[in-house]
Amino acid sequence: VAETSEQDLIGDVGLPAATEQNAKEAKLPKDFIWGFATASFQIEGSTDVDGRGKSIWDDFSRRPGTTLDGGNGDVATDSYRLWKSDIALLKEYGIKSYRFSIAWPRIIPLGGRNDPINPKGIAWYNSVIDELLENGITPFVTLYHWDLPQALHDRYGGWLNKEEVVKDYTNYAKVCFEAFGDRVKYWLTINEPWVVSVHGYGRGIFAPGRSSDRTRSAEGDSSREPWIVGHSLILAHAHAVKLYRENYKPVQGGQIGITLNGDWAEPYDDTPENIEAAQNSLDTAIGWFADPVYLGHYPQYLKEMLGDRLPEFTDEEIAIVKGSGDFYGMNTYTTNLIKAGGNDEFQGRSEYTFTRSDGSQLGTQAHCFWLQSYPSGFRSLLNYLYKRYKLPIYVTENGFAVKDENSKPLEEALNDTDRINYFRGATESLRRAYAEDGVDVRAYFPWSFLDNFEWADGYGTRFGVTYVDYTTQKRYPKESAKFLIKWFNEHLE
Ligand code: NOJ
Repeated sequence: VAETSEQDLIGDVGLPAATEQNAKEAKLPKDFIWGFATASFQIEGSTDVDGRGKSIWDDFSRRPGTTLDGGNGDVATDSYRLWKSDIALLKEYGIKSYRFSIAWPRIIPLGGRNDPINPKGIAWYNSVIDELLENGITPFVTLYHWDLPQALHDRYGGWLNKEEVVKDYTNYAKVCFEAFGDRVKYWLTINEPWVVSVHGYGRGIFAPGRSSDRTRSAEGDSSREPWIVGHSLILAHAHAVKLYRENYKPVQGGQIGITLNGDWAEPYDDTPENIEAAQNSLDTAIGWFADPVYLGHYPQYLKEMLGDRLPEFTDEEIAIVKGSGDFYGMNTYTTNLIKAGGNDEFQGRSEYTFTRSDGSQLGTQAHCFWLQSYPSGFRSLLNYLYKRYKLPIYVTENGFAVKDENSKPLEEALNDTDRINYFRGATESLRRAYAEDGVDVRAYFPWSFLDNFEWADGYGTRFGVTYVDYTTQKRYPKESAKFLIKWFNEHLE
């Protein structure tokens, strides 16, 4: 069933059929960007070093019960201290680009537009950027990967306060463009706004942990806050892009966009209600952000589902939001089979499952419950996004956490067959989407360079292509790293 409906959907999005008889051997273009990805809070540690301010994740992850293993970001992979040897490893891997994020509280410890800038924070990222460039690695930089300065949350409610946070974020972006923009040519404004909104302000499982569920949080309104926060995130992104395009891009000549999470939604079967439910799920998980940014409005389905709980864009706002991205930044991990029904608004009131109607599983189960491998879903998603938003796609994250990897002896963990299989499928889907379907995909960043702090999962869930021994901080390349390096060496023109 799954196979047929996937074909139907590819047909639906009106893509040309396989173009060339030799598409099988076709390679990705020479200038295709690939590399590994990380984020500041997940790897840096040294949270109170060199003048860094607190982020909302500092306190949140230290609170009992917020992470599965009690882990927090105090040490992480110790990359604030080990940055040089980490970059040496990246160089050894031979990657072309490295995606990492800048910690706002290192640059402006108290976060705000009238607060002091921290020269030591700027200096540290300068060293990282220079070292990458000296080693022939292109920096691909995320401005916001979830570490909001705690002071802004305390001062005015952080992302809940549109007027203030948009100004402060834009100022922070400006400081970064000024300090690093002569060397950084790829900017991502915000990482996964859906996750920030839903997990941080709806489900309360990520910082700042607000939710209507009083077993989790003393404060919050899950029916309203996520949509308010989403609105602020879109505007913050758009204002940073406007600023960059007006004042920096003409001189610095880089590209800027947002990166959105989104997994392929495959109808559970071909009944009209499940086909519709799959679209509703895409509209909520992806369209919530992508439609305003690329098409200039919220999806109709979201408006109907939420009524006046969905903020409206003023004319002035939408003029800034529409078209605010030079590319489509895509984070994707899995495919969900979608059934109509259910009340979860964050899933567009549809139900997600991995179990097909015949009882079989979609793919190999990962360590985290939400992830199974399903390569053709990745290809379908690339097609869907390209057809709908018509922009070059940069895959800024894609990866797999092997089941129970954390409890395996080192030798076994390094032999990460399930991750290799995942990447074998994903890279083949990528190549075929490019060569056979004509999707303009230009970058691919496996998540992650290192095992690291996996948010509420703590350190027990490992996504790295490099194993990290957290007692010694030694790094060990996994077989999947070798697989990817070899694959990209062989499949670029
Ligand atoms: C998305 C996030 O951007 C990243 O921080 C996280 O570790 C991975 N997905 C894996 O869950």
